[in-house]
Amino acid sequence: MKRSPETIDLLLQRRSQLAGKLVPPGPTEKELETILTCGTRVPDHKGISPWRILVADRSTQDILHAKLPELHEGAPASLEKTLSKEAKTAPLLLIVSSSTTSDRAPRNEQLLSGAAVCQNIIVAAAALGYRSQWLTEWFAYNNSVKALLGIPTGEEIIGFLYIGSEESPPKERPRPPLSSIVSKLEL
Ligand SMILES: Cc1cc2nc3c(=O)[nH]c(=O)nc-3n(C[C@H](O)[C@H](O)[C@H](O)COP(=O)(O)O)c2cc1C
Repeated sequence: MKRSPETIDLLLQRRSQLAGKLVPPGPTEKELETILTCGTRVPDHKGISPWRILVADRSTQDILHAKLPELHEGAPASLEKTLSKEAKTAPLLLIVSSSTTSDRAPRNEQLLSGAAVCQNIIVAAAALGYRSQWLTEWFAYNNSVKALLGIPTGEEIIGFLYIGSEESPPKERPRPPLSSIVSKLEL
């Protein structure tokens, strides 16, 4: 494998940007294809390819966001606000879902592979100079939203990935020290 110090720099520096602060430009068609190709090049137990990705441009996001209030029955209004009131300028939304119905790998692993798709998308977008935010809020778990998006029973939404450019870079956030996470296994 060829060494790639640039990739290490990218991983050490990448930060999410609040969806509401994402602005145009978004990825070009060619860049989007690269992002999606990187996104679907992930570990996938038994090669099931359980994932699907819906691409929503700005105008489709507006339609989706306008429908959310009538779909959010029972969800706290503050959660509704995150998407429908704040993500008004993000040029691109990718909705990643994973089917969980295969009996060839554990259900959880089909979901985890979908999470790997999300992370690869975020990293690939960052490598092309874009910011993003991975949101789920209430809408990722809402059956009416899933029906609107054509997501069948047995398929779960893993992430709403908002992608765009930054007006100003986000501040760094504290990261836990490795020592609080990593320890030597001694048996
Ligand atoms: C599965 C998943 C779901 C998330 N859902 C939300 C969410 O609904 N709302 C939110 O504010 N942040 C959510 N986040 C957190 C943000 O995507 C992001 O991690 C946070 O803004 C800081 O990210 P950074 O460490 O990449 O800068 C979620 C993260 C993950 C992994």
